[in-house]
Amino acid sequence: MASTWILRTFGVLVVMACSVDAQLSTRFYNTRCPNVTARVGEIIRGHIRRDRTMAPALLRLHFHDCFVRGCDASVLLNNPSGGRGEKEATGNKFSIRGFEIIDDVKAKIEAMCPGVVSCADILALSARDAMRAFGGIDWAVPLGRRDGTITSAAEANRDLPPPFANFNTLSAIFRRKGLSVKDMVILSGAHTVGLTRCASMQTRLYNFSPTSPTDPSIDPAFAASLKRECKRGDNNTLIRNDPTKPTDTWDPNYYSNVLRSKSLFISDDAMKRSPEARKIVLTQNQPGSPFSKEFARAVEKMGRIGVLTGRQGQIRQRCSRGN
Ligand code: HEM
Ligand SMILES: *[C@@H]1O[C@H](CO)[C@@H](O)[C@H](O)[C@H]1NC(C)=O
Ligand SMILES: *[C@@H]1O[C@H](CO)[C@@H](O)[C@H](O)[C@H]1NC(C)=O
Repeated sequence: MASTWILRTFGVLVVMACSVDAQLSTRFYNTRCPNVTARVGEIIRGHIRRDRTMAPALLRLHFHDCFVRGCDASVLLNNPSGGRGEKEATGNKFSIRGFEIIDDVKAKIEAMCPGVVSCADILALSARDAMRAFGGIDWAVPLGRRDGTITSAAEANRDLPPPFANFNTLSAIFRRKGLSVKDMVILSGAHTVGLTRCASMQTRLYNFSPTSPTDPSIDPAFAASLKRECKRGDNNTLIRNDPTKPTDTWDPNYYSNVLRSKSLFISDDAMKRSPEARKIVLTQNQPGSPFSKEFARAVEKMGRIGVLTGRQGQIRQRCSRGN
């Protein structure tokens, strides 16, 4: 009886979750602003040509948008009156980048199609186009998201995964967003690219525990090389998420690093700490890795989290504030 009830309730929830995003479509702007995808692509290619490191930054911005109040561009809003916005949250402050690029794209798209294209769609498209220009990865971006008007640091502190989280905490955070363990392991593979401030490494390298100042689960030679790049107390130096390869490229190397204990965060190491997750890591690390194909599927799914559609929300004129 109980299990039938659980099955039925869960089934209803799944149907509800699906009906919310049923309206996203890659053709959404075909009549409303026919050239928007081409134009966003062109603008973003210009930015990535000038600074290639902004591509991973925009992917992270999209992730942090989607995990807090859904993909509604809430991460782009400046502080609400009398409160602190998502930009002030621990996981964003000092480390989230790319706002100027989104503002630039939005201004140019507004000039072309005033009041038509949401900041949430512009962010989703920009992340994809940036990584497409970066090279090695591409995915589909169904459109039709609308913009929220609320941003809260407290909610972001609750919903963004911290780098010191263990497997159970991480999988619970992803599950709350409708994402599976597999989605989590695949999406974490984004840490094959991009940058980290040494601030995020301080505890693991120098303050791990009274008996072991350095996290013993890091490969010792790797820990030593990290310490050369990130001195004690250095919060500002930027290092690559994957320092084991000569250039920042998209590939499945993240999973090799996880298995060899050469990843930066406890959250990365956690990906091999459950039998289910470890199996997925091993599969990504095989020759002919399905990683990029799996990532395309998972990031498109991430882009559907909690979206506002139809008459919900608004189309912001400026991404940094509600209308
Ligand atoms: C599993 C939980 C995750 C945790 C705990 C986590 C944590 C972090 C942290 C601490 C940084 C470095 C920030 C800094 O100090 O500068 C970072 C960077 C990054 N993360 Fe994650 N992350 C997670 C999942 C993801 C996911 C799902 C994506 C995308 C799909 C992603 C994409 C990135 C990218 C691209 C960067 C580099 C950003 C840049 O170059 O500016 N991360 N992450
Ligand atoms: C669409 O945008 C692209 C890129 O900006 C541009 O090259 C092309 O001429 C535009 N097409 C139309 C019909 O405006
Ligand atoms: C680095 O950041 C930590 C945590 O915010 C802070 O306690 C510490 O004083 C900072 N170190 C320096 C040198 O600014």
